[in-house]
Amino acid sequence: MSEPRKLYIKSFGCQMNVYDSHRMADSLAGDYRETDRPDGADLIVLNTCHIRERASEKIFSELGRIKELKSAAEKEGRRMLIAVAGCVAQAEGNEIIRRAPFVNIVIGPQSIHRLPDLVARAHLASAVVETNFPIEDKFDHLAPPSFAATRARGISAFVSVQEGCDKFCTFCVVPYTRGIESSRPVAKISEEIEHLTAAGVVEVTLIGQNVNAYHGHGPDGRPWSLARLIEHVAAKREIARVRYMTSHPRDMSDDLIASHRDIPKLMPFLHLPIQSGSDRILAAMNRRHGRSEYLDIVARVRAARPDIAISSDFIVGFPGETEDDFAATIDLIEQVKFAQAYSFTYSARPGTPAAEMDGQIAEAVKTERLARLQIAIERQRQAFSAALVGRKLDVLFERPGRLPGQIAGRSPYLQPVQVMASAHRIGTVGRVEITALSTNSLFGEPIDPVPAYAMMPPAFAAAEGA
Ligand code: SAH
Ligand code: SF4
Ligand code: F3S
Repeated sequence: MSEPRKLYIKSFGCQMNVYDSHRMADSLAGDYRETDRPDGADLIVLNTCHIRERASEKIFSELGRIKELKSAAEKEGRRMLIAVAGCVAQAEGNEIIRRAPFVNIVIGPQSIHRLPDLVARAHLASAVVETNFPIEDKFDHLAPPSFAATRARGISAFVSVQEGCDKFCTFCVVPYTRGIESSRPVAKISEEIEHLTAAGVVEVTLIGQNVNAYHGHGPDGRPWSLARLIEHVAAKREIARVRYMTSHPRDMSDDLIASHRDIPKLMPFLHLPIQSGSDRILAAMNRRHGRSEYLDIVARVRAARPDIAISSDFIVGFPGETEDDFAATIDLIEQVKFAQAYSFTYSARPGTPAAEMDGQIAEAVKTERLARLQIAIERQRQAFSAALVGRKLDVLFERPGRLPGQIAGRSPYLQPVQVMASAHRIGTVGRVEITALSTNSLFGEPIDPVPAYAMMPPAFAAAEGA
């Protein structure tokens, strides 16, 4: 039997982009085995992100390096195919081939199921470009997650449940690169999760650009909300933990908030981007909610699940942002007390309304505001972690730790936790007492086996203690 060809695939974007990379690798699994080095690969796929200018330009510098590899391979008489996938591919199309003529395939995010076919065609043609939004549903044509690849990826997996976005925030390219919003049927999602659990996955993160706008077709013939979907997934015996992201404040429904109270397997973590704390800027961004609505959601979520970690995204230096608008963002941060957040300087994206707005802010001002915002967020992140020292948390052990004899896992709040324990516990959830913290990790001691009283109803526990 001949050696399988080698595939090198690299993601530059969000969770949806990482997920698409996995599914592209799964679709090619019959002919290609994944490698973690680009130099010996027969096919290189760069799965790109268009969200900010820097993300987009990075691709062209990466392509510069890959051109060298391709010439070196050709000198050895090997053919190397180069594919540019993802949101830059969707936005730039033929322009990519013009700037980088050695690229063989350009393929948009909604066409990834056609990759095996494009690879076959690229062997015959100089370049193939596929950036139409196809009429068929890519999920009906994608190969299921491969068993071997799923094992290699670990015990926690992403599952795309909702795609695209119709919200048209004035700064954002996603509605143009990913297309209109759609939800996958419950049965299809369930089937995919069964493939994953059969390969050892115990945690799933249900992902979508606006995952809480989920309204997929349920087995009863009606549209199901994300809350129902979560309940359905959490009912699977093999699943220990369920997460979801990213949510939009406008779609934070009461039943989803109640899920945080009622579904123990749903982890107490909510990534709910607000972008700015100024009502004026939120309106200019077309977010279609104000700061008071956001604060109200946070209060209701915390009432349902008091220990929940709240996370957000922020953009600083949106056109027209004054020092007062920025102060309102800092004030919101001080009110909410985030467990973590991602923050960016505003990047004008071609074709979006905000790029044409008056009052574009100087880079130096954006960078300075970003630095101030990040100090505020970092202080809160450290405070959130510090408050966990001395507490007992359930940790999902995921992989060997940094030191011999150590294993590493994640807290319910997504922080890495390092514990001295045997590697056979990887893939299980264990109780850990948090004893210390460093900048990015928690350290703890396992307190298993769980004492019998901890499994009894409180009345019995009290009697036993007497
Ligand atoms: N659907 C998600 C966000 C997807 S994009 C939501 O609505 O929250 C991820 C993050 O990138 C956004 O939350 C925003 O903070 C940031 N982002 C998007 N466009 C940007 C731009 N033009 N400049 C800077 N940051 C941007
Ligand atoms: Fe972009 Fe707004 Fe849609 Fe999020 S909700 S993907 S920020 S347009
Ligand atoms: Fe980037 Fe596309 Fe995701 S632009 S953030 S890879 S949806």
